[in-house]
Amino acid sequence: MNDALTQILSKTAHSREELIQLLSAEPGNETDIILQKGLEVKAAYPGRKVYLRGLIELSNRCAKNCFYCGIRGGNRKVERYTLSDREVLNAAEFAWREGFGSLVIQTGERKSKAFGLHIERLLKAIHQATNHELTITLSCGEQSAETYRRWRQAGAHRYLLRIETTNRELFYQIHPRDRKHDFDTRLQALDLLRQEGYQVGTGVMIGLPGQTLADLADDLLFFKSQDIDMVGMGPYIEHADTPMYPLRLQLWPAAERFRVGLLMIALLRIQMPWINIAASTALETLDPLGRQKGILAGANVVMPNLTPVVDRKKYQLYDNKPNLDKDASLSTVTLNKVIGEIGETINLHQAGDSLHFIRRNRIEK
Ligand code: 5AD
Ligand code: SF4
Repeated sequence: MNDALTQILSKTAHSREELIQLLSAEPGNETDIILQKGLEVKAAYPGRKVYLRGLIELSNRCAKNCFYCGIRGGNRKVERYTLSDREVLNAAEFAWREGFGSLVIQTGERKSKAFGLHIERLLKAIHQATNHELTITLSCGEQSAETYRRWRQAGAHRYLLRIETTNRELFYQIHPRDRKHDFDTRLQALDLLRQEGYQVGTGVMIGLPGQTLADLADDLLFFKSQDIDMVGMGPYIEHADTPMYPLRLQLWPAAERFRVGLLMIALLRIQMPWINIAASTALETLDPLGRQKGILAGANVVMPNLTPVVDRKKYQLYDNKPNLDKDASLSTVTLNKVIGEIGETINLHQAGDSLHFIRRNRIEK
């Protein structure tokens, strides 16, 4: 099998059948060969460098009810919060001083006019407070073209909107079947974002109940067909206060979800060598070295959490979210050490744009 694997891996693009075969790799040697290839491709293209994005979980208020998510609107047990402007600016200034180069602002999904204006005001205030030296990624859900445009004009550069799974049937098994949770609307949102000039990111969860390796192969092909600029994906992790919790008995063991999560990163790096790929927090939840292992499989982005510690525990998408009380994981000294130890360097004071996006725009011009 190893020879067959090496043979398939010598290609730079893979068919659905080949991706399924690669995703079926056994734990141990076969998996290691694929992860190693992910690292090789990363080293040869973007290089063994990591970008930092300071993550600000601005608000856990959410109008949606995704069946897997701990902060879904229907979960009455969650204490809802929205950070003050001062808290956001403190986090942004910290990221700026430390040379992170970039921020991600994440919220639950809301569509009100007030919410739109709030984000717009914050974008402007952050740029002003940090001498326009930070790039900003938004992860605030499905919005109208008009809202995307206003946020872009106020200084958002990138947008993350995970499709969650590209299997339409499975999508409707993990979301309520209503207008707020519509697969086609979500797909169209990715197009709108592209049209508004964002670097567009998406992603999926790995190891959902009922998900197959063929579904994951389709997810990888989807990223490619959409010519996506960045991807954040990670293992699905159950949360006790969600409708999907009873399905936990059907899940792949956590170690398997983690291993397939790493395989997905490596295979995506091979298919799309220039894109930005995040080592997700969910990986770190399942393995204390998850972040480093993600980077060694081909990821090149990490997102240290800058949300004030008191609010962090209220933004629990899944159980056992790590670093709930750790500010130390933020300091660049610690990050430099951890990342240096695995042979990578942190790119400080850089925008961290997707090289895929830069190259596409150069070609189109
Ligand atoms: N496990 C893993 N990832 C989750 N997300 C939400 N809930 C979970 C969960 N239980 C991810 C979704 C969403 C992102 C913000 O967090 O992919 O898009
Ligand atoms: Fe809301 Fe996002 Fe959670 Fe869905 S995944 S319930 S949109 S925060």
